[in-house]
Amino acid sequence: MPAASLRVFLSAAQIRTRIEEMGKQITADYPAGTPLYLVGILKGSVVFLSDLARAIKLPVRFEFIGLSSYGKDKTTSGEVQLTKDLGTSVEGADILIVEDIVDSGVTLTYLLQVLKQRKPRSIQIATLLDKPDRRQRPIDVAYVGFQIPNEFVVGYGLDYAEDYRNLPDICILEP
Ligand code: IMP
Ligand code: MG
Repeated sequence: MPAASLRVFLSAAQIRTRIEEMGKQITADYPAGTPLYLVGILKGSVVFLSDLARAIKLPVRFEFIGLSSYGKDKTTSGEVQLTKDLGTSVEGADILIVEDIVDSGVTLTYLLQVLKQRKPRSIQIATLLDKPDRRQRPIDVAYVGFQIPNEFVVGYGLDYAEDYRNLPDICILEP
């Protein structure tokens, strides 16, 4: 593991409380009779999705999609590629995209465009974290856990070079 210091920014308890609230809101917003398709973006959303799903008192389905972005630290034109597709058709379904953090908005702009072509009944986004100061593309995010300042955070699924995903808290990584 690289030598770096970690400062707790959002504790596991704060995260748990907020996800309970998000789950209640989502439960109230969707019909109970048809499954809600939770589409998690690999890999960062996995921890959040597993907790959020258990806070939603509706039938849900789990789907995952893999995306990778290239050169987004070097250029504003960030190119996104699909590396793993959904395992099923989502035509006519209610889709809730589950993301760890919305930063520039490039990833979600691409994913919305891809998924809208599949003709879902509805498509919305739930993100645990939002860094609005960093936005390059306007994105309508229906459910936001926490708006955060422009700091690099790890833990609770979020990584730095694939490390730290299993930290229970969300921490600011200080070099
Ligand atoms: P964007 O919105 O297309 O810029 O990309 C969002 C993605 O960038 C997230 O899904 C994360 O994988 C990654 N990311 C952005 N900010 C952070 C951070 O502070 N820590 C860890 N990953 C981040
Ligand atoms: Mg991610």
